[in-house]
Amino acid sequence: MTKTCCQNNATDEKYQKLNKVIEEYKEKPGGLIPVLHQAQLIFGYLPKDVQIKVAEGLDLPLSEVFGVVTFYSFFSLKPRGKYTIGICLGTACYVKGAAEIVEALEKELGIKVGDSTEDGLFSLMVTRCVGACGLAPVLTIGEDVYGRLTPEMIPNILERYQ
Ligand code: FES
Repeated sequence: MTKTCCQNNATDEKYQKLNKVIEEYKEKPGGLIPVLHQAQLIFGYLPKDVQIKVAEGLDLPLSEVFGVVTFYSFFSLKPRGKYTIGICLGTACYVKGAAEIVEALEKELGIKVGDSTEDGLFSLMVTRCVGACGLAPVLTIGEDVYGRLTPEMIPNILERYQ
């Protein structure tokens, strides 16, 4: 009982924060992306109800909001794991074998890019250049950056977070 009550309170609080963000950007042109950014920070991802709220608040068609959410890889439609693994698919990383690193990650985690592990520990995303091209191929886990990767290094890296 108590849990349901507090979860609802927590959700209400999140929607209140979102309302403030919407109010702030309502009259500004190009407010959709910053609002979605803030919404993702508040909720951790962008479920349909949040997208509806943003569309209504900014007076935009839901299809436009959904289009933006699905276009940019940094927006997530699903809850994210505790750690987000970002594998860089920028040119330098791609040339240096990032696709093999993606394969190794997918195999090790048992998920595809865009998904999260069932234990809620990891989410796997692709990113654009993270500015560490000299270390290509590169992946990030939260604030940590790992470079000059080979597929063989992946199990050891993941182990540090388990
Ligand atoms: S392309 Fe990957 S860090 Fe620049």
